Amino acid sequence: MAEIESIIAQMTLEEKAALCTGATSWTLTPIERLGVPGMFVSDGPHGVRRVANEDSLTEESLPATCFPTASCLASTWDTALIHEMGQALAEECIALNVDVVLGPGVNMKRTPVCGRNFEYFSEDPYFAGEMAASYINGVQSRGVGTSLKHYAVNNQEYQRMTISAEVDERTLREIYLPAFETAVKKAQPWTVMCSYNRINGVYGSEQTYLLTEILKGEWELEGFVVSDWGAVHDRVAALKAGLDLEMPGPRARRVQAVIDAVQSGAVDMRILDEAVRRILRIVFKAAETPKGAPFDAAAHHALVRRIAGEGMILLKNNGILPLKGVKRIAVIGQAVKEPHFQGGGSSHINPTQVDIPLDELAKLAGGAEISFSQGYPPDDSSQPALIEAAVAAAQAAEVALLYIALPTYKESEGYDRADLDLTAQQVALIKAVCAAQPNSVVILNNGSAVTMSDWIAGPAAVLEAWMMGQAGGGAIADVLFGVVNPSGKLTETFPLKLTDTPAFINYPGVSGKVRYGEGLFIGYRYYEMREQPVLFPFGYGGSYTTFAYSALRVSAQNFRDVDGLTVSVEVTNTGSVAGKEIVQVYVHQHQAQVVRPLKELKGFAKVELQPGETKTVTVPLDFRAFAYYHPAYGRWITESGEFDILVGASSADIRCTETVTLESTVELPCLLNRKSTLREWLDDPRGKPVFEPFFNQMLAGMRAMFGGGEEEGGIGMDVMGFLLDMPLRDVLEFQGNLLPMSADDIVAGLLKQVFG
Ligand code: BGC
Repeated sequence: MAEIESIIAQMTLEEKAALCTGATSWTLTPIERLGVPGMFVSDGPHGVRRVANEDSLTEESLPATCFPTASCLASTWDTALIHEMGQALAEECIALNVDVVLGPGVNMKRTPVCGRNFEYFSEDPYFAGEMAASYINGVQSRGVGTSLKHYAVNNQEYQRMTISAEVDERTLREIYLPAFETAVKKAQPWTVMCSYNRINGVYGSEQTYLLTEILKGEWELEGFVVSDWGAVHDRVAALKAGLDLEMPGPRARRVQAVIDAVQSGAVDMRILDEAVRRILRIVFKAAETPKGAPFDAAAHHALVRRIAGEGMILLKNNGILPLKGVKRIAVIGQAVKEPHFQGGGSSHINPTQVDIPLDELAKLAGGAEISFSQGYPPDDSSQPALIEAAVAAAQAAEVALLYIALPTYKESEGYDRADLDLTAQQVALIKAVCAAQPNSVVILNNGSAVTMSDWIAGPAAVLEAWMMGQAGGGAIADVLFGVVNPSGKLTETFPLKLTDTPAFINYPGVSGKVRYGEGLFIGYRYYEMREQPVLFPFGYGGSYTTFAYSALRVSAQNFRDVDGLTVSVEVTNTGSVAGKEIVQVYVHQHQAQVVRPLKELKGFAKVELQPGETKTVTVPLDFRAFAYYHPAYGRWITESGEFDILVGASSADIRCTETVTLESTVELPCLLNRKSTLREWLDDPRGKPVFEPFFNQMLAGMRAMFGGGEEEGGIGMDVMGFLLDMPLRDVLEFQGNLLPMSADDIVAGLLKQVFG
């Protein structure tokens, strides 16, 4: 640190400004005379997209392992596995001379149409935060940095460079920020990447509130903030807001703008120094990791297969899977020869090798006869002949396996999906083949929810195989033949139809603004509150075995929020094959002063069990598991009272519940003011004793005036009901000249008694 301070002291203004803007598309500016090295960053998130030529944004990158994308990774619910993938990513960075990988992406899946959902973990902020922290800790444990992105509220690709996400404070704090918060607090990413979009009118790159106050202030980020590529509009405004590094470079005019601003006094040198300090800390940290050692491509390919196998989700199975003793298999769908294993855009990896699903299937098929039919074209044209051929092949076999990949043109970075459907040809194909062959299995490759209501009744089984990474073809075969017992579970709800989805009415926005009108209620929070049926709920996923839950225990029936609670439950494998179960812990508050989701995920654990085996799963719950963000107090608070602890196999499959009583230790400032309502006075612990005697007197007087009884006033209404939500001052005003002094003075007197 002393060394950094001495370097800053020796740097010229020009050198400082140059350090805060990239030198090339992917590198930072070295300062040779002071021994400050450069630094190389590369996309991310599910592999290393290291371009050979640092001046090129888009050329094909050097070969690297393409891991499963975030949807698949998240569906493993396996933090240790994600950590392991992070370490493998770091090894590839080291081999490819990369200091920081640009990931993970933790934006919430507000709407399933977001083109980039395949790069994001979940619709649940707690869950996404845990995934991100494991990823970052894995990468950084090997001396390579990460870039947590895209901060913040970047939930659609439509007009992503300009749209203003209009979101209220509580929703921001409870839904759109916690994944970033958890990742920063638990893993300290070396860098955080700001988003392109605006948040409540202000660009992500110019957000003093988000960058300086919250990220660096409240959460204590130690690293630096980097812009998304091209997200800076006004370099000086961005610098002042807390944006340390602008990418990509070179941008001579931007550097000059910073120099001019400091010289003219528009920017204090200390602000520039702080950005320089943050960047230098990371540059020197990165330089400590020697680069160049080759990575083990075969081992990483095998890791992809393992992750993909853990992340695939058995959505439906009438018992046909795992396949046993099948002699004739009809394989249908172009994706079995040309696998759809990653998404389009900046995350696109040049894989070291790719498993062809058909070849991998053949290896495990025990000599079964396998036919292939294309099934559907690469575009959205209708080709009935392909369907006819597939139906004939399916009829001639014992089992039909339909490999259905959502075409790239439907889902990518840069644009959103127009619908949630497979192509018309794919739907027609599934229906026709299932009608001809009841033993049909649909294997899906897509990055986010697709609708299935049209055809889900047809197949005997459906496997969600996601964008499964370069070895995903092998993982599909593993699951189909039972080499791997599927254990993945959904981290996003699959809706019945697009019009059911939470943001449907408020998406994509008009005149440059998208209103987050659904507030806290995205994903399962919405469907549960609206009692809206879904295709597959959050947390859902099948297995070749079954699990029983018992003996739910809590560490205390009555507990203080600051002490938290430990929940344990016994899980037994009640089937005949080994398997893994993902146990989910949700929390529900019985009664709150504000509207709260019916339940929220606050803990989870994945457990492996042999047939007949029982294990105890333990999940800790902390203060935040019970708290909500109160915008009026500007902080997280708890309320004393009862909470349900709900333990289950999915959000819709709660197996056991325990009710506990929380004692809140939160000391809240009194918010009573001139405009407080009668109810607010009565609910406030400090206001109540002062106000109650006055209130009783006042009420007696009013009843006398209206001539009403306990329930009914003289003008046909419940006096209490009428008055409670009126400001005290306004109630008093009605009494006009009868008052000994003005209503304002009376209220001021009461407030004085409260505040002294
Ligand atoms: C993307 C980022 C990416 C960057 C560099 C941007 O367009 O939004 O996620 O890291 O490009 O490729």
